[in-house]
Amino acid sequence: MAISQQRILIIGGSSGMGLASAKRLVEAGAEVFITGRDAAKLDAAVTALGGRAVGIAADFTDAASLEALMRRIGRLDHLVLAAAGAAAWGPFAQVPAEAVRTALGTKLIGYWQSLQAALPILRKDGSVIFMTGAASRVAMAGTAGLAAVNGGITQMAQTLAKELAPLRVNVISPGLVDTPAYDGLPADAKAGMFDRAAKSLPVGRTGVPDDIAQCVEMLVGNGFATGMLLDIDGGARMAL
Ligand SMILES: NC(=O)c1ccc[n+]([C@@H]2O[C@H](COP(=O)([O-])OP(=O)(O)OC[C@H]3O[C@@H](n4cnc5c(N)ncnc54)[C@H](OP(=O)(O)O)[C@@H]3O)[C@@H](O)[C@H]2O)c1
Repeated sequence: MAISQQRILIIGGSSGMGLASAKRLVEAGAEVFITGRDAAKLDAAVTALGGRAVGIAADFTDAASLEALMRRIGRLDHLVLAAAGAAAWGPFAQVPAEAVRTALGTKLIGYWQSLQAALPILRKDGSVIFMTGAASRVAMAGTAGLAAVNGGITQMAQTLAKELAPLRVNVISPGLVDTPAYDGLPADAKAGMFDRAAKSLPVGRTGVPDDIAQCVEMLVGNGFATGMLLDIDGGARMAL
C-alpha cells in the first residue's frame, strides 16, 4: 500500500525526530496523527506541518489517556513510538534505583502500553516502530540507565516481531541527534558535547532529526522489513 493511503500515529510527534517523521510522512501524503502532552507544543507542530496532521494531546504513561486517544483515532495502519521518557543518566554507583524505576516506568512501560492500546485498532499487517537509543548498543560509561531502558525495548521488539506477526515490528536506535531534548543544557555545554561527538564519529557530524525520519519513512513503506534494528548513529558503534 502506498504511504499516501496510510493512517499513522506518532506518539511523541510534536518535537524532534517524531516531528521530522511526521513531516516526511505528510509530505508523502499519509494521514498523520501526532501526540504529546503539551497542547501548545502540539499546536505549534501542527502549524509547522502546514496543518496537514492532526494533533491530539495524550500522555503515553497514562493508560486511560491512551485508550481515549485510540478511541478517537479509530483505525490505524502504523504506530511510531518516538516519545521520550525520564532518563537515568550518570555513573552507575550514583544513579538511585528510583531514577531507573522512573525511567523504565515512563519510556519502556509507556511504549508497552501504547502498543497494547493501539493493537485493537492497528491493521493486523501494519507496523510499529520503536525508537530506542545508541546507549543500548555502545558501551559508554555513565549510560547504564539508558542502556537498561532502551535495551529492554529492543529485546521486547524482537519477540513481538514474531508474536504479533504479520504486524511488522522494527527498532530504530538513534545516535546523538540535535533535537529540543537538549534545549535545557547551557549553550556552551551543548556545543561542547555535540562537537566532541562529531569529532569521534566516522561520519564527522552528529545527527539531525531528518536522518531518523528517513528511516521511519522507509520502515513504514517497506512491507518486507520486520524484526529489524537500524543503528542510525553516524557509526557510533565503531567510534570508541
Ligand atoms: N536526541 C537524541 O540525541 C536521542 C538519542 C538517542 C535516543 N533518543 C530517543 O529518541 C526519542 C525521540 O527523542 P527526541 O530527541 O526527538 O525527543 P524530543 O525532541 O524531546 O521529543 C520528545 C517527544 O516526546 C513527547 N513526550 C514526552 N513525554 C511524553 C509523554 N509522557 N506522553 C506523550 N508524549 C510525550 C514530547 O512531547 P511533550 O513533552 O509535549 O509530552 C515530544 O513530542 C526518545 O525516545 C529519545 O529517548 C534521542
